[in-house]
Amino acid sequence: MGLKFVNTGASLPEKILTNADLERIVDTTDEWITTRTGIKERRIASAQEATSDFSIRAARKALEGTPVNPEDIQLIIVATTTPDHFFPSVACLVQKALGAKNAAAFDVSAACSGFIYALTCARGLIESGDIKYALVIGADVLTKFADWKDRATCVLFGDGAGALLIEKTDGPGDLLSAFIGADGSQSDILSIPGGGSRHPYNPETWSQHPAFIHMEGKEVFKHAVTRMIEASLTALRQCGKTSDDLKLLIPHQANLRIIDAIAKRLQLPDDKVFKNVHKYGNMSAATTIIALDEAQRGGRLQRGDLVELIAFGAGMTWGACVLRW
Ligand SMILES: CC(C)(COP(=O)(O)OP(=O)(O)OC[C@H]1O[C@@H](n2cnc3c(N)ncnc32)[C@H](O)[C@@H]1OP(=O)(O)O)[C@@H](O)C(=O)NCCC(=O)NCCS
Repeated sequence: MGLKFVNTGASLPEKILTNADLERIVDTTDEWITTRTGIKERRIASAQEATSDFSIRAARKALEGTPVNPEDIQLIIVATTTPDHFFPSVACLVQKALGAKNAAAFDVSAACSGFIYALTCARGLIESGDIKYALVIGADVLTKFADWKDRATCVLFGDGAGALLIEKTDGPGDLLSAFIGADGSQSDILSIPGGGSRHPYNPETWSQHPAFIHMEGKEVFKHAVTRMIEASLTALRQCGKTSDDLKLLIPHQANLRIIDAIAKRLQLPDDKVFKNVHKYGNMSAATTIIALDEAQRGGRLQRGDLVELIAFGAGMTWGACVLRW
């Protein structure tokens, strides 16, 4: 028994923030951002929009045109580190909005690797349980936690959500392998220090522990390249494939230089590596599933093609999965 991928959906904020716009907010230039990251613009949630809004829209798009009704769904997992609230989970808000009253619903927290973690959880639950249809969503609005005075981080992130509709199938299915890993000893190099139970909101101490992204960029860069290469090779090995067998590699879209370094090490030509970082920046858990949605809707993937998703994020966490679209 295995997983069959029925459809994908994605939702992005309407507002576009370009590098030229950022030049007016912090001391930066389009030239610096483009050469160091490859990012030209990103989508930014409005003050009224939260993670569940994008998650719900992405889920509806994934259901559109399929024979699956919301009541048929028995599992909703949302990968996010920017939930609307500490509780209820975003997954429960999606369940309510869709009317998916037969679904169990919960969130998974693994930062930018979250979608691959959530898919791995879904696989375990589907294969061991009585679930026929599941929705796995990756969604984040990290720009709400960006310090718009810190030029080293605020230029990197964007918002959005993507959803994958999955059906249980007899036979081995289309998820050929999935591998996840973590190294909590590196938890300090990428974090949001304040706002949780360690440093709850307190106006007097807020300046010491703000709820803004803190990042040691160079360290993160190094780990991201090493871990994503390891994860990619492990997931390929697990299913007896090599990078030559891939139609497309979909790497986490945090930085063009990271993507290019991985592609070089895996000896993948440019046309086998999906890139949309220039349009969206790093959308955390939403990144790889939005890329998969764009790739399949845009004709870069046909049914039956082999694709690998790889991601790396705060925690540190990482993961890779090989799937047949
Ligand atoms: C963030 C990142 C682009 C910075 O690039 P870098 O080459 O490491 O740059 P540094 O941090 O060493 O900064 C170099 C200089 O540029 C400056 N700088 C930083 N951000 C800038 C910006 N937006 N505009 C202009 N200058 C900037 C720094 O202040 C520093 O100046 P200094 O030398 O006078 O001190 C890069 O480290 C990176 O991509 N890291 C990984 C990020 C990531 O992937 N995060 C998510 C993982 S899931």
